[in-house]
Amino acid sequence: MAARTSSGRLAASARDTGGFWATVQAVAIRKIAQLGEPVLRRVARPLSVEELKSAAIQTLIDDMIDTMRDADGAGLAAPQVYESVQLCVIEISKNPRYPDALDIPLTVLVNPVVTPDVKSSVAELAPEDSISMFEGCLSVTGLRGQVTRPRRVRVQALDRHGSHLDFAWEGVRASVVQHETDHLKGVLYVDLADSKSLTFLREYERYVPREERIVDRGAP
Ligand code: NI
Repeated sequence: MAARTSSGRLAASARDTGGFWATVQAVAIRKIAQLGEPVLRRVARPLSVEELKSAAIQTLIDDMIDTMRDADGAGLAAPQVYESVQLCVIEISKNPRYPDALDIPLTVLVNPVVTPDVKSSVAELAPEDSISMFEGCLSVTGLRGQVTRPRRVRVQALDRHGSHLDFAWEGVRASVVQHETDHLKGVLYVDLADSKSLTFLREYERYVPREERIVDRGAP
């Protein structure tokens, strides 16, 4: 019996092993664009509600969730899978790439607008309004770099069914949602990182102390 994805297509990873379909989790993994791909620098276009409800976009959302989970990502934006539309998915659940981060439930954001919700200006963030985190990106393989961002944001978006979302996120969640929605503007975390903090993953594990990986001075 062929494994099928939730959308009914043959699973990309299912292998026919001598007439026997291996029992594998039905997944559809998309290729992830790497730093230098022009699609990562394009401003993504918004989706109409009608288009959002189309089979093509619903499949894209399912595939992005599968792709993010397969790669142990904390989030994935559509341009990272070569689709220049305003859509991203976020989830942290016992993530080996981010063992120090709290869990984030699976969140799908369409046409998101993220607004800083802190007292100081973004250009001159007060320490208590900022979070500094060593970020990574599935499109920048093997690298980490420290990015300082507002530690609290308001998120307005549509969910995958076209319903309006409006909520506040703080701490690591605020960093992650800013990172993902930056992708929709053609911005990558390496544009914002302190360049002297950039480190490959092996050196990050070796030299960046746990307490410096996520610094959230405003945390209650
Ligand atoms: Ni990224």
